[in-house]
This record gives sequence, C-alpha cells and structure tokens, in this order.
Amino acid sequence: MAGVIIVGAQWGDEGKGKVVDIFTGEADYVVRFAGGPNAGHTLVVDGEKIVVRLVPSGILRRDALCVLGQGTVVDAKVLVGELDALEARGLDPRTRMRIAEHAHVILSYHILVDGLREATSAAIGTTKRGVGPCYEDKAARRGIRLRDFRNRGGLEARVLRALEAWAPTILALGGVVPTVDEVVTDAWDAGQNLLPVLCDTASLVESALLAKKRVLFEGAQGTLLDVDHGTYPFVTSSSAISGGACTGVGIGPTRIDSVVGLAKAYCTRVGGGPFPTELEGPVADRIRTVGAEFGSVTGRPRRVGWVDLPALRYAVRLNGLDSIALTKLDVLAGLETIRACIAYDTPSGRTREFPVDDLEICTPVYADFSGFSQDVSTARHLAELPKEALDFVRFIESEVACPLSIVSVGPGREQTIILSHPLRPT
Ligand code: GDP
Ligand code: IMO
Ligand code: MG
Repeated sequence: MAGVIIVGAQWGDEGKGKVVDIFTGEADYVVRFAGGPNAGHTLVVDGEKIVVRLVPSGILRRDALCVLGQGTVVDAKVLVGELDALEARGLDPRTRMRIAEHAHVILSYHILVDGLREATSAAIGTTKRGVGPCYEDKAARRGIRLRDFRNRGGLEARVLRALEAWAPTILALGGVVPTVDEVVTDAWDAGQNLLPVLCDTASLVESALLAKKRVLFEGAQGTLLDVDHGTYPFVTSSSAISGGACTGVGIGPTRIDSVVGLAKAYCTRVGGGPFPTELEGPVADRIRTVGAEFGSVTGRPRRVGWVDLPALRYAVRLNGLDSIALTKLDVLAGLETIRACIAYDTPSGRTREFPVDDLEICTPVYADFSGFSQDVSTARHLAELPKEALDFVRFIESEVACPLSIVSVGPGREQTIILSHPLRPT
C-alpha cells in the first residue's frame, strides 16, 4: 500500500490528528489536500497536547516529509507561527515541510469579510479564518497564490484587483476597505519566510508514489461539511471527501490504494446547520465534558448527538471507504443507554439513506443499547472491551457494511486498538 487517504466521515473533529499521527509512524509523506487554518487537529504524545491547523499532523514524526498541496488555503502568518512554535519545541519543521507554490493565500481582507458576514443574519457559524472568501477568490480567478510573494510589484497589482472586487461587499457590510499597502505589508514577511519551502508539490508527491514511498493524505473537515456533498449551505468551501485528495494535490485516482474514514462513536458539529441526532440536557453535557468537545480552533462548545448511521453509510459511499477508524468510544462509558440512529422517517416513508437535503423534515429512528460502566481506555484488543461496548461497535460495523481498522479509546497514541493498518503489508 503506498497511497492512503484519511478523511472525516462526520462534521469534522473526528480525531484525524490522532489517527494520522499514529499512521505516520509508518509513512514517508503526510500531505494535506484541502482546507486551511479552519482545521484544528490535536496530537497527544506523552500526555502533551499539540494542536496543528495548517501543518500536517505527521510533523511530530522526524522521518516524515509534510506537504501542503495546492488545494489548501494558506494563511502565511498562521503557518509561520505554527512552524516557530514547533521549532521552539525542538522540532525541525522547516526542513520537513514543502508547500505548493500554487496554494492560494488567505489575506487580511478575507478574514475581514468572513468576520463581517458572520456578524449578519446570514451567519453560518464559520471559523472566521477567511477560508470561504479565499476559496471564492480562487474560483473567481482573482486569487493570490504563494508564488506571487516572489515579486512585490506583481503581488500589489493582484491585491489591487482583488480589493476592487471586494470593496462594495466590505462597504455594504459596514467595514473599512484596507489599502493595498496595508494588505501586502501585513503578509509580506510571513510570505517571504515560506518562499524557501515552496515547490511543485504535485510532481513531488507523484514521484514519491512512483518510488513506492508511503504517502498519507490527511483530510480536513469532514464529509458532511464538503462543499458539494455536505449539508449545504452549512458547509466549508472545499472538497473534504476523498476525491478532494486527487484534485487538491494533483495526482490521479489510480495512485490511491486505500481510504480510511474517521467517525466518533457519537457525533459532534460546530457552527450552524442541521444536526438531527443532536442532544441537549444532562447526557449532552456529560458527553461534551468527558469528550472535551470544545473547538480546537475557536474554543466553541461543540454540539453533540448520537452516532448517525445513515450519515455514516453516506460517507462510506461518497469516499469509497475501505475501513473506518472509530474514535472516542471511551467517552460513552458510564451512560445507561447508548443510542444509534439507524434510519429516518420521512414524509414519504422510512429510509436507511441519509436525507441530506431534507434533514429538517425527517426524524431519526434509533436503536438503543445498554451502556457500559467500565473504563475502556486501557483496552488494546477488542476482547478487552466490555460486552456492551463490543456489541455497539460491531453493530456500527455491520450496519454500515465497512470494516473497522481502529477503535480509539483515548486521546493518547497508545490508547488505540489497531485491527488493521493501511500502511502495513497484509
Ligand atoms: P480532528 O480535527 O479530526 O483532528 O479532531 P480534533 O483534534 O479537532 O478533535 C478531536 C479531539 O478528541 C481531540 O481533543 C483529541 O485529542 C481527542 N481524541 C481523539 N481520539 C480520542 C479518543 O479515542 N478518546 C478521547 N477521549 N479523545 C480522543
Ligand atoms: P477539522 O479539520 C469542525 C465548520 C465551521 C462551520 C463551517 C464553515 O478540525 O475537522 P469555515 O470556517 O470552513 O468557512 O466554516 O465548517 N468547520 C469545521 N468544523 N472541524 C473542522 O475542521 C472545521 N472546519 C470548518 O464550524 O460550521
Ligand atoms: Mg478539529
């Protein structure tokens, strides 16, 4: 196995950082293909917690080369801050990072517009990191790419064009249009700092795959936040599903050997939009507290609910999942009853499909399971799980017809039951 994609199968925050870090132990490259600093991927090693936003989650493993593909959007200041912080920990991220020169850059006016829109009634609960407006510029063919930082005059001319396009929007939202000089000066030093690691990452990754290197493609966000297939318009602005790895990096689908989807044993969502299995009250509070369900980027309390199996089946289909890594099983310990949504009642009858466009008028149908009281965070084999926990896990696996590769029972690297490893020869 040489090319493996890891994607979120829910609304993000499924534990991609932890699982990518584990798999990177046996990877040569870790490649981000979509999203930007809206992502927050948490790594917990020896009890120490590190959150990365733009830097790929393979950065803690000294042998892996970390790559940002051109499908990502880069806030140079955020990235330089992350690299500096990793250096301060004694790591050498700059020698192990390569960044697509064609990646689009988030500039101050993108963050301004994102924030202004979120202050209106049209808010969707974005992370306010400028990600949406940056992708808008890319699609509108007026975006700024990292390679533009090689020439200040050229960069200023491009920023002028973009500002002319955004000015009416900024003014209508009550904002102040920045000058070209303000925008460029704000990002210039950080952009210069990144120039030495810019390259043609599409060709770099293709060469690695042809040389049989082991390449891990690290997804950001999750399937239900995908711009084409998620709960539109409450989505992010990029292709978060596995197909996005090919376009976001610039490799062909024939290079991919395996796709792993991540899902929690329950479900969370940050920001607005439908969430049919959402819980409120003491059970929600308990899951949120025990699972530390607060946004890694914004600190916002995450909405929590029961696992949604029609949604997971939808993710299996859209991503072509070969296996599922199920995370946070430990968080459910101590609940008397655990529920799983198995179908939806719709105005035209019951369905096992995920009614992505009609979630507001559909009602989840649940199966109930006896809870388990035992702490499962020390389990390293399925056989060490209490019967109730194992029954729940096996039920999920059979209902979505996709084998489990991992059951995660805590945030730490070692708190993991590994059933199969996509980078190990079978
Ligand atoms: P990502 O965006 O998918 O990388 O996920 P986040 O890092 O935003 O959120 C997942 C959170 O759950 C982080 O705080 C992880 O440290 C934590 N986590 C991951 N797996 C487990 C697990 O199996 N059990 C528990 N209790 N926490 C986990
Ligand atoms: P990771 O990679 C969870 C959500 C936001 C909002 C919507 C649009 O850590 O799983 P955006 O800022 O992208 O325009 O916001 O998408 N969102 C995420 N939710 N995890 C993420 O990333 C997210 N990235 C964006 O909360 O609802
Ligand atoms: Mg996250």
